[in-house]
Amino acid sequence: MLGRTICEELADFEVVPTDLPEADITDEDRIDAVLRERRPDAVIHCAAMTAVDRCEEAVDFAYRLNARGTANVASACDRQGIRLIAISTDYVFEGDSDRPYSEFDVATGGRTVYGKSKFAGEEQVRALCPDHVICRISWLYGKGGPSFVHAMLKLADGSRPILKVVADQHGNPTSAYAVARELRAILRRPNLRGTFHVTCEGEATWAEFAEEIFRLAGNDQRIEPCTTEEFPRPAPRPRNSRLDKMGLRLANLPPMPHWKNALAEFMKREFNA
Ligand SMILES: NC(=O)c1ccc[n+]([C@@H]2O[C@H](COP(=O)([O-])OP(=O)(O)OC[C@H]3O[C@@H](n4cnc5c(N)ncnc54)[C@H](OP(=O)(O)O)[C@@H]3O)[C@@H](O)[C@H]2O)c1
Repeated sequence: MLGRTICEELADFEVVPTDLPEADITDEDRIDAVLRERRPDAVIHCAAMTAVDRCEEAVDFAYRLNARGTANVASACDRQGIRLIAISTDYVFEGDSDRPYSEFDVATGGRTVYGKSKFAGEEQVRALCPDHVICRISWLYGKGGPSFVHAMLKLADGSRPILKVVADQHGNPTSAYAVARELRAILRRPNLRGTFHVTCEGEATWAEFAEEIFRLAGNDQRIEPCTTEEFPRPAPRPRNSRLDKMGLRLANLPPMPHWKNALAEFMKREFNA
């Protein structure tokens, strides 16, 4: 989803999309060969096992992609002198803090296999490829989905008088278009390195996010706020996914847009709303 959006939004760069099967990140030699052939200035590494609940069962698979696969990309980039921009997640944090996490808060991998495997991937990037930027994102929606926005609009098809939506988790709904534009600013700063939080400004619960989606879509679906306990999932969801963009501020990078403005832009582009 993010990769697709980057291809559309960064048309001012020569973007070379890669995907399975030709660029399998679990195959170190293959990744090395693909990069030797294409010779990019930078790699934006979006590939991952992103199904958070499935990661709890498929532990080896999650680590094979998110940790080992990321290590393969990082070492190939380092060998060939290519800058690496690796995408990570708020799940690397415990998710129980009462304030947004900044880049200077200690990440542990959190409470899920997904978060732990993504954090292991971050550590591989730091160890193997000094010329890197790690961008942590969260609550992402983008071109084509699947995302919370697409799921809500599908559920609000008129068949459910009331939709229960979780109202005790807090995060930054984030448009992949806004992430792509921040990546452009990062790409234009070739000496920039380190870890950055790249989520939209402002915060919401899932219920507030859903309300705004329906308002913009002109859909009168009614929402009933509910608790996380009412929707038990195999992987525990963080109560607090909010990320402070201190890194962007300190590096004088452009601020991310407010999530409501970014959502309005997305609804127009994706659904003509
Ligand atoms: N979505 C979110 O809310 C969210 C939040 C925080 C962080 N992130 C991070 O943002 C990044 C992009 O997420 P996304 O939502 O765009 O994910 P996505 O739509 O699931 O994209 C991941 C891509 O990786 C590909 N892939 C799977 N195995 C691969 C392999 N062995 N080699 C190469 N490619 C492989 C997938 O292909 P197939 O579809 O064919 O399997 C898919 O195209 C990920 O790093 C994710 O962890 C996402």
